[in-house]
Amino acid sequence: MHNLHAGGSCLDNLQRPLRDLRISVTDRCNLRCTYCMPDEVFGKNFVFLRHADLLSFEEIIRVARHCIALGVRKIRLSGGEPLLRHGIERLVEMLATLVDSNGKPIDLALTTNGTLLAKKARSLKDAGLARLNVSLDALDENIFHTMSGSNTSPALVLEGIAAAQACGLTPIKVNAVVKRGINESEILPLIRRFRHTGVIMRFIEYMDVGNTNGWRLDDVVTASEILSKINNEYPLRSLSPQVPGEVAKRWAFQDGSGEIGVISSVTQAFCHTCSRLRLSTDGKLYTCLFASEGTDLRTLLRTEPDDAQLQERITALWHNRADRYSQLRCAASVPSAKKIEMSYIGG
Ligand code: GTP
Ligand code: 5AD
Ligand code: SF4
Ligand code: SF4
Repeated sequence: MHNLHAGGSCLDNLQRPLRDLRISVTDRCNLRCTYCMPDEVFGKNFVFLRHADLLSFEEIIRVARHCIALGVRKIRLSGGEPLLRHGIERLVEMLATLVDSNGKPIDLALTTNGTLLAKKARSLKDAGLARLNVSLDALDENIFHTMSGSNTSPALVLEGIAAAQACGLTPIKVNAVVKRGINESEILPLIRRFRHTGVIMRFIEYMDVGNTNGWRLDDVVTASEILSKINNEYPLRSLSPQVPGEVAKRWAFQDGSGEIGVISSVTQAFCHTCSRLRLSTDGKLYTCLFASEGTDLRTLLRTEPDDAQLQERITALWHNRADRYSQLRCAASVPSAKKIEMSYIGG
């Protein structure tokens, strides 16, 4: 073994440890957010993965165990919309029993669009889920429809958030992707809605993930623009990171009414501390959100019962990793050609 550091974890080519695993459990979603699954592309004729292509829960757990052995301490379920995966509570239950080498449970979280949360919050909590991030780009009915490419009401998402809070799936973070001229006007209403509630409101710079959202740099509202808008009305002070490699820069309201976050992957890339590995719905590993190729594990999982080979494959992949897409894009200001879609790789 090479590249092992004090914590016993596995380091990549740029000396970054493997700490987080993001697992996409379905490529389907009941919304069609313009920045993620635009309806023109993901419409009626789009072919989603077949059930036989999906990793089974047992296969997911096997990958998760190996990743934990290599240093993973945080697992996030995502999609698509993860609550659309049949029996998701059973997967949560299985993941919640996993522990690290010191016998400590893994930080187990899930990112959802919140539309099914009012129904599912209790069963997810009972299954052992620790916390949730919920996407909500606008409170205004029409702006929400535009952003989500649907007729769904934001009230449904708010109900979901309230249900999750009531059963202690906390701290809840609410994610809003900001697109220039579309939902910029919702920044302050969202801040007002969640101040004093314990919910952490976060704003995300619109990213050039995938190939389908027609991303243009002009559509990005920068973290510094977002912050000055908020700070003018509700003065902020900077908070230090809670864990290394966190994607959101944290801020507190000076009046003590809570905390917010801003995710600036376009204007201030955070690749130098990126410790995230992604497992796609059909069992490919991706070492970057913007990767064009993944490493197939499903074939190995389905043909090779030997654990050593699986561990070897993951270790080798991480050791060879040199991805820093956002940092390079920052330097070049243009997106690269072929990338994987986010709904498939899991945010
Ligand atoms: P916490 O553990 O609660 O901090 O979760 P998180 O912020 O890592 O997860 P979440 O699913 O809420 O993601 C928030 C936003 O950050 C989404 O837009 C993600 O696509 C983006 N994001 C997460 N990880 C990465 C990453 O490694 N690179 C880039 N560029 N963006 C990321
Ligand atoms: N840019 C920034 N964030 C995005 N998300 C999805 N697509 C994009 C994009 N193009 C966000 C969702 C969700 C999280 C998992 O990723 O809003 O909150
Ligand atoms: Fe669905 Fe989330 Fe993508 Fe919106 S951002 S289309 S809710 S997966
Ligand atoms: Fe990590 Fe790639 Fe995102 Fe950079 S662009 S932070 S390397 S996932």
